[in-house]
Amino acid sequence: MELINKTIELVKQKLEGTESGHDWFHIERVWKLSLHIHEKEGGDKLVIELAALLHDIADPKFHNGDETLATKIVTEFLTDQKVDSKIIAKVIFIIENMSFKNRNDAPKDLPLELKIVQDADRLDAIGAIGIARTFNFGGYKNNLMYHPDIEPKLNQSKEDYKKSNGTTINHFYEKLLLLKDLLNTKTAKEIGEERHQFMLQFLDQFYREWNVTF
Ligand code: ADP
Ligand code: NI
Repeated sequence: MELINKTIELVKQKLEGTESGHDWFHIERVWKLSLHIHEKEGGDKLVIELAALLHDIADPKFHNGDETLATKIVTEFLTDQKVDSKIIAKVIFIIENMSFKNRNDAPKDLPLELKIVQDADRLDAIGAIGIARTFNFGGYKNNLMYHPDIEPKLNQSKEDYKKSNGTTINHFYEKLLLLKDLLNTKTAKEIGEERHQFMLQFLDQFYREWNVTF
C-alpha cells in the first residue's frame, strides 16, 4: 500500500544513524509483532500499522527531551498524505500515550490499537532482543554493565527514570522484568512468558559467571 510504503521511507530516513536498539529494525520488528497481535485480537489495521511505524520517529531522549517533536512530524506527514483527520488523531494519541515512562500519566481506558502497539513495543524490550538492546543502550550511554553495590531503584518518578545512569543490569529490575505483567493482550502475554523466562535464566547465569560460582 502506497501510504505504508511512504511511511516506511520517512521512518528509515529519520532514524538513519540512530542507536541500534532504536533503529529501523526495532520499528520493523514492532510493526510485524503488531500485525501478528492484530490478526488474533482485531482493531483498526491502518491505525495500528501507522502507529507502530511512527512510534519512535522522534524519541525525546534522542532529541534533547523535546516531547512535542514526534507529534509535529507525524501530523505534518499524515496531513500531507491526505490521511483522514480522525485516523491522524488516533495515531497521535497512541504515540503520545504508549511509552513506559509515561505509563502513570496515561488515561485509564486505552483503545485496543494502543494496547496492541504498546504490547509489540514491550515485547521487543524483553527476551534475547531485549537483552541485546539494553546492553547496547547502556554502552551508548557509557553506563556500567553491573556494579554489585549499586541497587536498582524501583518506582522511580518519570524525571528520575529519564535521568537514571544506573547499571544495565539494574535496568532489568527497573523496567524489563516488570513488562510481562504490564502486557495488555492475551496474545502478547503468551509470547511474553517465554521471553521473560529467558531473561531470568540470563540473569542467573550472569551472576554465576560474575561471582565465579559453579
Ligand atoms: P519507552 O520509550 O517505552 O519509555 P525507554 O525509552 O525507557 O522506553 O526504553 C527503551 C529501551 O531502551 C529499553 O527497553 C532498553 O532496552 C533501553 N534503555 C532505556 N533506558 C535504559 C537504561 N537506563 N539502561 C539500559 N537500557 C536502557
Ligand atoms: Ni519503540
